[in-house]
Amino acid sequence: MTDRLQYGTTAKVLHWLVVALLLVQYPLGWLMPDIHRGMKPGAGMTLHISFGIVILILIVMRLAWRLAHPVAPESSLPAWQRLSSESVHWLLYVLVLATTITGWLFASFRGWGVSFFFLVPMPMLASENAAAGKIIDGWHQAMEWSLLVVIGIHVAAALAHIFVYRDRIMQRMLPG
Ligand code: HEM
Ligand code: HEM
Repeated sequence: MTDRLQYGTTAKVLHWLVVALLLVQYPLGWLMPDIHRGMKPGAGMTLHISFGIVILILIVMRLAWRLAHPVAPESSLPAWQRLSSESVHWLLYVLVLATTITGWLFASFRGWGVSFFFLVPMPMLASENAAAGKIIDGWHQAMEWSLLVVIGIHVAAALAHIFVYRDRIMQRMLPG
């Protein structure tokens, strides 16, 4: 299959939807009450878990779309930038997947019954296991911070293209 030269509307909409949800998800994660033994998930945690599952669904859809509709890196870029941007993009997919799955596993190991946006019960991935929960909590935090660092690199690169290189890379992800 020949790679397309431009991102289509679906890829752009999915990209910006995930960005918007992550902008909600990080503050929610930091502001919701800390977990302590025996606690039940409150409204903040229910929302965090529900938004997290939406992010997981969207990133799986994006990944499937990306694999079915590959887009070639901008041909005017030097080889090192094509290679590094592709690597950062794949790393972003992997880290969003890892962050959401470790979060879901953590909630599962707590033995919680959580509803999806207070509407329907959410399926859990495993049964209660305090020791496993402790380990996976560390992983969720490691993944969420690694994702934040890689997002920082990705956004810094986008800003460099706007203000330093002054090329049309940012336009590739904008409407039109
Ligand atoms: C990309 C999506 C996600 C991001 C960016 C994210 C981010 C965060 C953040 C910033 C915290 C606060 C931890 C801290 O104090 O450092 C947190 C905690 C937590 N997250 Fe997520 N999360 C995501 C997805 C999920 C999902 C899908 C679930 C469950 C289905 C989940 C379950 C939890 C739980 C149970 C905690 C509490 C753990 C604790 O306080 O140590 N998260 N998350
Ligand atoms: C304000 C924040 C952001 C800006 C300005 C931005 C900008 C861009 C631009 C311009 C591209 C196209 C690069 C190219 O291929 O030429 C792109 C692609 C991409 N962005 Fe972002 N981005 C942002 C946030 C994010 C976030 C938070 C994520 C995920 C966690 C993300 C994931 C991706 C991925 C995976 C691609 C590659 C798409 C693909 O080829 O499948 N971006 N972004």
